[in-house]
Formats: sequence, structure tokens, C-alpha cells
Amino acid sequence: MFCSTLEKKIIWHGTTEILANFPVAERTYRLRFRAPELVSALQPGQFVMLRLANTNDPLLGRPLAVYRADAAEETIDIVYLVVGKTTERLSALLPSGTPLQVWGPLGAGFQLPPADHLIMIAGGIGQTPFYTLAEESLGLRVFSHKNAAVKKISLLFGAKNKNRLACLDDFRQLGVDVRIATEDGSEGECGVATDLIASTIREANLPKSVLACCGPRPMLRAAFDVAQSLGNLPCYVSLESPMACGLGICFSCVVKYRDENGAIDDVRTCTEGPVFDAYRLVW
Ligand SMILES: Cc1cc2nc3c(=O)[nH]c(=O)nc-3n(C[C@H](O)[C@H](O)[C@H](O)COP(=O)(O)OP(=O)(O)OC[C@H]3O[C@@H](n4cnc5c(N)ncnc54)[C@H](O)[C@@H]3O)c2cc1C
Ligand code: FES
Repeated sequence: MFCSTLEKKIIWHGTTEILANFPVAERTYRLRFRAPELVSALQPGQFVMLRLANTNDPLLGRPLAVYRADAAEETIDIVYLVVGKTTERLSALLPSGTPLQVWGPLGAGFQLPPADHLIMIAGGIGQTPFYTLAEESLGLRVFSHKNAAVKKISLLFGAKNKNRLACLDDFRQLGVDVRIATEDGSEGECGVATDLIASTIREANLPKSVLACCGPRPMLRAAFDVAQSLGNLPCYVSLESPMACGLGICFSCVVKYRDENGAIDDVRTCTEGPVFDAYRLVW
């Protein structure tokens, strides 16, 4: 069992206030709060635990990826899909100083091998950890560790329908090549994001591609299958496992993972992850 991260320093745990909370797509909201300590320590792909203050229902916090970090304003943006109790209640909160409990930044973010073409594959609300990664990989921003610059970034985004396409203009403004697949064909290709991988790589015609994926587990598995079929391309997946503490204490988030020697162990998504090498994950 990996235990070293039990001693990991928690950068920040406190109560902050909601500065903005507005819809960006169907059942999808963008929330902003001030957290200078988080902004300065962030790595792309990390997340925060967020808990409604002044209530014990729900008792536990929920993990949410850091979507954007504004260094000048010292604010963090989260983009969330309403699926249950916390996100439903969150969507009703007014940005008039409503308190929120937040702890983070948490987990190990993206640390990708050098490549020419970064292909970010997102399903559902899986685009959220990719904005900061795109900023860093395009050399627009330096975070607390560094992913090497790439020549091109593509975002392959899969959603149920066009009403669920959130934040894509943000990526376009960075210069990311955005490609869309919807299950009902209402925008982009009719299908799923993983259908777009092979043609995206073919058209870019760059020597080295790396895949970074975030979304429901079947989508991650499908992306990994494509990575293998295209000559074992490097493939990293960010898991959305349910979590209770986010701090490495409760072990509610373990997955089976191979160490460097191939031995399988239980690792915590909240501390060793959420980003894992797809070739070492036990699917
Ligand atoms: C590292 C990480 C980053 C995440 N980033 C984001 C993000 O940026 N935006 C976002 O909208 N969501 C994100 N999620 C998922 C988010 O944590 C859940 O949607 C959230 O916990 C739901 O809370 P809730 O109280 O609204 O729903 P709950 O009442 O807890 O659950 C509602 C329903 O959703 C199911 N459910 C809850 N969590 C998950 C899950 N992780 N996977 C599958 N089913 C689940 C439950 O079984 C239940 O059926 C992330 C998860 C992880 C682990
Ligand atoms: S959520 Fe508690 S150990 Fe990962």
C-alpha cells in the first residue's frame, strides 16, 4: 500500500465565498471563488474538495477539478454538472458571499511525456481538468511543475447533445483544435469522442502524440483501446471515482494499479491519482 502521501501537506483548507455561479450549458454551471493559496500551488489536473458550509446534509465534500485559475484575481473556477444533492444545491447558491468549504489543491495532476501533439479526450464534464493543461502545454502559463510544450493541442469532446457543450470557446481562444461528437448528432460527428482519435492524429501528421483522457470509465477504456491499436501511444486517464475525504485517509477511492515492476497494488485516486498511466491501471 502506498502511504507516503499521508504526510502530504494540505495546501489550503478553509471557508471562502462564492463570487460567481452561472449556467454555461444544460445542467452545467461555472462557479468562482477566491483562493490565493490554491492558485499559487496548482498543477494542471489537480482538484479540490468542495463542501457546502453551514449544513451537514450532505456531510461529505465532493471532488471537482480546477477548471481555471486566475493569477491576477487569485480566483479559482470550477465547472460542474448537476447530478445529485451537492451539485443541485450548489447550482441554487447566489454569488453574494455564500460560504463554501474548500480544501486543496489535491492529487497528482498531469505529468505527460514530451510530445508534438497533445490530444485531450473529454466525455460528459471531462473537459474541466484540461484548460490549465492546455495553457501550460502551449507555453502560456507556468504552474508549480511543468509539462513540456507541444506543437499542437486537440480537444475531442463528446457529449449527449449540443446543449451539453460547455466552455469550448475558452479552448478555441487558446488556439486548441476543438472537435465535437454528440450522441444524437446535434453537433459535430454523430458518435463519441473516441471515434475522433484516429482521424485527428492522421490529419495532424505529427511524429509523437500523447493522449490525456477524462470522463466516464467506459470512455476512458475505449480511449485506451484506441491508443493501443494505434501503436501503443502514451495514454493518461483522469478518473472521476467517488471520494469521501480527498485526503488519502478513508480509502474509499482505491483502484488497482501496477508499480514499475508490474506488481499490482491498491492506490488511492485522490492522492496517487486522479491521473494514471492507462497501461498500468488494472481495468
Ligand atoms: C478528481 C475528480 C474531479 C472531478 N471533477 C468534476 C468536475 O470538474 N465537474 C463535475 O461536474 N464533476 C466532477 N467530478 C465528479 C463529481 O465529483 C460528482 O459529480 C459529484 O461528486 C456529484 O456530487 P452530488 O452530491 O451532486 O451527487 P451525488 O448525490 O453524490 O451523486 C448523484 C449520482 O451520481 C453518482 N455519482 C456521484 N459521483 C460520481 C462519480 N464520480 N462518477 C460516477 N457517478 C457518480 C452517484 O452514484 C449518484 O447516482 C469529479 C470527480 C473526481 C473524482
Ligand atoms: S477519498 Fe479518502 S482516501 Fe481517497
